[in-house]
Amino acid sequence: MRLGVTVAGKMLDTICADYSAHNKDIMQGTEGERIHALDVLAWVQRLKQSPALSLRLAALFHDIDRVVTAKKGAGFKGDRRSKAYLLHKKRHARRSARFIIPLLERQGFPQRVLHRTRFLILHHDDTGREVDKLRDSDLNCLVAADTFAFFTSIAPALFVAEGESRTGDKIRFMVDKLPERARRLLSKRQLDNPTFNKLKDEIIREYSRGASRNRQRSTKKGGGRKSAGVR
Ligand SMILES: [Fe+2]
Repeated sequence: MRLGVTVAGKMLDTICADYSAHNKDIMQGTEGERIHALDVLAWVQRLKQSPALSLRLAALFHDIDRVVTAKKGAGFKGDRRSKAYLLHKKRHARRSARFIIPLLERQGFPQRVLHRTRFLILHHDDTGREVDKLRDSDLNCLVAADTFAFFTSIAPALFVAEGESRTGDKIRFMVDKLPERARRLLSKRQLDNPTFNKLKDEIIREYSRGASRNRQRSTKKGGGRKSAGVR
């Protein structure tokens, strides 16, 4: 039998059911996490024609840490503009990969597919500068899909739990890691929720002002590498 995303979807269902006791430690519960994973997969399929299996697996399992290691992976109480948050995100990505890759391996998914899936999961919460440096179109697609899906499957629960200011900080983190093309798409997109739409527009404007200041600075210095914001 050729293994595909249907088998992986069933694995996701089973994992979420097996860890349902973690519900209380996860902001949107295991079911919310399952819905987010499917939402990201749907966005990957919308943004990319015939996405690779490795990318679709990464879409399904990039946040599995929040389900299986909920106390560590779910929810960050500190400042989302801090280095501690970036470290929290890196550890979350590593735990997701460490948990799911051996399971997928045991299920029989090919090594070459899993090698890429691991890479994509490991880098899905990198900063914009790091994502930019990797120049990987599948990774660009995954971070874009994750950001678009954030507004429908994560932001509502986050807003209720933490309020406008902390939701804004999370949107800022998502906007920063977006490739330029996806940021333009997000900028044009009218979100159904007016509060999220206002926050996203404000943050993209704030981001664009910062990027243009960085551009001016690097032009004065006579060039150099592009700013993180200009991707
Ligand atoms: Fe995600």
